[in-house]
Amino acid sequence: MSAIRVPSPNRGPVHPATAPGGLPLLGHLPAMVTRPLAFLDTLPALGDPVRVRVGPRDLYIVSTPESIHRVLTERADYDRSGPLYAKIRTFLGNGLATCPHADHRRLRRIVQPAFQRALLPRYAEAMTAETAALTARWRPGRTVDITHEAFTLTTAVAVRTLFSAGLTPGAAERLRHALDVLLRGLYLRVVLPAADLLPTPSRFEYRRALRSWHAGVAGIVADYRARGVDHGDVLSLLLAARDEDGRPLDERELADQVATLVLAGAETTSSALAWALRLVAEHPEVERKLHAEVDAGPADRPARWEDLGQLPYAGQVVNETLRLYPPAWAISRTTARPVELGGARLPAGALVVCCLYLLQRRPDLFPDPTRFDPDRFAPGAVQRDAYLPFGLGATRCLGDRFGAVEATLALATVAGRWRLRPVSDGAVRPVPRLVLSPGPQPVRLTARVSAPAG
Ligand code: HEM
Repeated sequence: MSAIRVPSPNRGPVHPATAPGGLPLLGHLPAMVTRPLAFLDTLPALGDPVRVRVGPRDLYIVSTPESIHRVLTERADYDRSGPLYAKIRTFLGNGLATCPHADHRRLRRIVQPAFQRALLPRYAEAMTAETAALTARWRPGRTVDITHEAFTLTTAVAVRTLFSAGLTPGAAERLRHALDVLLRGLYLRVVLPAADLLPTPSRFEYRRALRSWHAGVAGIVADYRARGVDHGDVLSLLLAARDEDGRPLDERELADQVATLVLAGAETTSSALAWALRLVAEHPEVERKLHAEVDAGPADRPARWEDLGQLPYAGQVVNETLRLYPPAWAISRTTARPVELGGARLPAGALVVCCLYLLQRRPDLFPDPTRFDPDRFAPGAVQRDAYLPFGLGATRCLGDRFGAVEATLALATVAGRWRLRPVSDGAVRPVPRLVLSPGPQPVRLTARVSAPAG
């Protein structure tokens, strides 16, 4: 077992502690693939950072607020480069959420206006309409997989707000399917680069999905350009946008931004919503308070932008869900030069992983950290700078309000009409993909108020 190493004021920076139990050649890969969260839970006691070996690659996991703040804000030292981001870019391209810092300022300036506050009510209309359409298909007594339902909803919202025009339901469904395959495959490829070398059916499925995704997105961009009409959606804004030098995004750049926005917006928000629905179903007191709030507001009609002021508790439920299960559970950076972090020395090119999942469950910062308690976020409650589900600094999430509004409206809409009961009693096993997902969650639907037949 490796000893915990603490920096000595006399000896200067030291090597970081290494997690125990690594196997020859594989290192901690089996643990990172089969039980990553249980494995990660053991790390904070060892130090910060902690070195983890994944095959030939070293990761340095950090989970204190001090280290995470440094890694996310000291941009000259910690960049979005290296083999991990190279792999992600094969799928997402050089999008705003995946580009190296050198490209970031320009892209952020171009994409940011599409997320200004004034546009949110318009996006919320799409959220309300899509939630209504989804829940209209539900029937009392039926079982649905709430994780799948949430993903269907948020991809539909992403597709509708990004490119409202010209997408047939079949094309939207193909994009959604490709996205699902890619998201499942990407985590495996990140921790196990050899996955691409083996001629397995999943490799062929992944490659097919990648082709279908690229072709689908390129087709949408070309179609918009050819029609030249302002559809009042994000893609129209991006087509019209210019950088500081008056340059528009080229074809490739546009496709990359679209891909990034669908991923960044849909998978994160669906994970948050699916967790929130599950947690509410398992906590009767929280469910009671949520129902009381919704009954006094939108009740059994779909919740709208104008209702948000009457839904503070629903917002708290979303916040607390994002604390316990941050969708962006691990944000990584690569050191641009040798650095000193937490008293340890890291080489240039080291992959540093900011683990928000561990940060937001630290008992010193969140008492009784595994308890689901939306009252932690009651008005006036002090927010700690250890609550960072949307990240920090110049790359902080651009869609934070978009995602929070979408999850809150959907949660309130479901709570107005439905009670969800998990079909099995077993605890949910979080599935860490690039996003922390709850995995399949079958629930039985019970109508709260007399639902119209049909
Ligand atoms: C609950 C939902 C969401 C969560 C938890 C979340 C979380 C995050 C986090 C932690 C980052 C920072 C990543 C980094 O520093 O490398 C980020 C970046 C980003 N997010 Fe979100 N996000 C959510 C929803 C959305 C939505 C709905 C959109 C767009 C529709 C979006 C668009 C983006 C973009 C464009 C970036 C890159 C920002 C930049 O690098 O300048 N996110 N998100």
